[in-house]
Amino acid sequence: MTRPVAGRPTLTVCRGCCCGTERKSPGVDHEAVLTTLSQAAGESATVRVADCLGPCEKADVVVVGPSPEGRRSGARPVWVARVGTARVADALARWAGEGGPGIADAPPAVLARAFRHGR
Ligand code: FES
Repeated sequence: MTRPVAGRPTLTVCRGCCCGTERKSPGVDHEAVLTTLSQAAGESATVRVADCLGPCEKADVVVVGPSPEGRRSGARPVWVARVGTARVADALARWAGEGGPGIADAPPAVLARAFRHGR
């Protein structure tokens, strides 16, 4: 994956003890989800893989970090649960490509899976 680049949103894809595992999400093609995220995001967003982010019960978790512009408009990271299909991964990546949190409205597939975590 790539390092975050200033000026664009970041998709942090959890691949810890539960997310991305057959044990937690049987039948999910985790490699296809990650490939879809990376390809759909293209140059518009940074995609990176992280170890366990904490809320394992929500696997498979992706956090959409706002761009600096989105953060200045008040946006905070959006936690998304059950990103287990290419359709949801594509919606996530396209949203990030459109500017992500604070810039563009999240699509229904993302809103339906968004949850609060941490502070
Ligand atoms: S493995 Fe993803 S939140 Fe724990």
